[in-house]
Amino acid sequence: MCGIVGYLGEGNARSIVLEGLKRLEYRGYDSAGMSLYDETEQYFNVYKEKGRIQALESIVDMERSPMGIGHTRWATHGKVNRENAHPHRSADGRFTVVHNGVIDNYSKLRDLYFDGHTFQSETDTEVVVELIAHYASKMPSQDAIRKVLKMLHGSYAMLVIDALEPGTLYAAKYKSPLLIGKSDQGIIIGSDMMALVGTADNYLPLDDETFVRITRKNFTQYDLDGEVLPYTMSKLEMDDFTSEKGEFDHYMLKEIHEQPAVLRRIISKYFNETHVHIDERLLKTIRQHERIHILAAGTSMHAGMIGKELLESLAGIPCEVHIASEFAYQQPLLGDKPFFILISQSGETADLRACLLNLKKANHPSLTITNVRTSTLAREADHSLELHAGPEIAVASTKAYTAQIAVLAILAYSMSEQTFDLKRELSEVAQAMEHFLDRYESVETLTTNLLTKRNCFYIGRGSDYHVCLEAALKLKEISYIQTEGFAAGELKHGTIALIEEGTPVIAIISNDKTAENTRSNLSEVKSRGAHTLTITFESLSENGDEIVLDNINPSLAPLLTVIPTQLIAYYAALKRGHDIDKPRNLAKSVTVE
Ligand code: AGP
Ligand code: GLU
Repeated sequence: MCGIVGYLGEGNARSIVLEGLKRLEYRGYDSAGMSLYDETEQYFNVYKEKGRIQALESIVDMERSPMGIGHTRWATHGKVNRENAHPHRSADGRFTVVHNGVIDNYSKLRDLYFDGHTFQSETDTEVVVELIAHYASKMPSQDAIRKVLKMLHGSYAMLVIDALEPGTLYAAKYKSPLLIGKSDQGIIIGSDMMALVGTADNYLPLDDETFVRITRKNFTQYDLDGEVLPYTMSKLEMDDFTSEKGEFDHYMLKEIHEQPAVLRRIISKYFNETHVHIDERLLKTIRQHERIHILAAGTSMHAGMIGKELLESLAGIPCEVHIASEFAYQQPLLGDKPFFILISQSGETADLRACLLNLKKANHPSLTITNVRTSTLAREADHSLELHAGPEIAVASTKAYTAQIAVLAILAYSMSEQTFDLKRELSEVAQAMEHFLDRYESVETLTTNLLTKRNCFYIGRGSDYHVCLEAALKLKEISYIQTEGFAAGELKHGTIALIEEGTPVIAIISNDKTAENTRSNLSEVKSRGAHTLTITFESLSENGDEIVLDNINPSLAPLLTVIPTQLIAYYAALKRGHDIDKPRNLAKSVTVE
């Protein structure tokens, strides 16, 4: 969701900023813009366009520049159009700003300070840049920016250029992520590590309420009162962040195919020989608590539902799963000694950050399970476990989901009376994934024949039901087919009324205890005209089942049953000609609440 890149140094800001913005494309955006300093004219040019970065690139008429800022906007205030795209410039022409986030009190500030002023855009951001200009007429620009930052409610990652100081860039952060990188050549600043790769040798993730003054060679970090804050930078390990599409047409397809390898990497990172390798202090802390609360959003929450089952069945610890955006403002009764697990692929989801801030205030212990070890949630929780899934670029999460389940299984196992060999069982899952993926193209025909309607249902029981929720989300987000994941037995209590001739109903059957019941539910919808498809295991299969998977340990079934559903979504979207990796209205990392 939205992106920021800024550069100052001996390199060419035009190409560095454009390249950085392209690396952030995967996060989702609707318009793009940049400002570049023209040394000859001693002027900051502004370029912006609705749509893709390629549209922006085609209008940037400068070849070289020593300094620039860029932005990909995911509209929150005002329509998607050129006027609302960033950068925004103050009416006096002095300040230019790019901003990620939301300023909640912007309309109050606008009415209070700018009665009668005509704004160029509908954005909250333009009010901020006008306020900075307003105060800078009375005090040094640094003081003016800090004063304005203190007036803002909401979230921001922001870069500010003062035309009177062309060799300086100001940056500030609250809630929205911002990282600063350094090399001998110059300084780069971006809202995602991806933007820094290739330009920076060292990096520093900025803390909330920091204000940074950047010059070509160095930067100084302050708090909002102007006190200098010391910092230590970390080395940027490039290999961790590089990513190419390779032989695949889409990142999503590539990431689906990476799942066996990710699972094997997780095994190698978390097991030495047969023993689990997780910090004993973390395990001890969890054991001292009476109940685990999992907080997450979207696909990560669906992984959390499987995690709950594993933690309860293997480790015997009661566990609840909460939607992060609900928990942040509607905290249920927690009981004694709660322990919190935050699950987030990106580690930047704003709804989770809001929860974590509350947890920290109440001194509750927390663990983040994330794919990005440098992320805000990984840094701020008491403990963190890494997914090791490699960069996930497609907006629709696939390999992060299976990685989350695998890490949760290992965590649950490490706290259980270990009576089976999880390492071996997980390796068998990786093999079964591979076996299915070898014949993945067969899913295309099944999808074409089945998904001909505007709607679709996934049904299952127990963990299959939870996989159905994830399968439905996947199909919705990239094919735009209205899909519901349903507890198979619940259908007849109302929703079966929606079944008519040709309605697609897909069943997931992995549990021998409930297989017959789910098959009966499937017959019920078939009798009412539904077109059905069954995903099951060899040991439970019957004649006519369309997708039959290799047998694995039933408690790990979601790791395998989800894979055909990811492909069903992929092919449905492909057939409809949608932008699979960047579906409409969605962002990879949801950094606003
Ligand atoms: C998944 O396909 C979605 N794009 C979305 O639901 C995602 O899982 C959710 O926004 C949570 O993101 P996170 O894991 O980065 O916190
Ligand atoms: N709130 C700002 C806008 O609507 C910034 C959105 C973003 O983060 O891209 O323009």
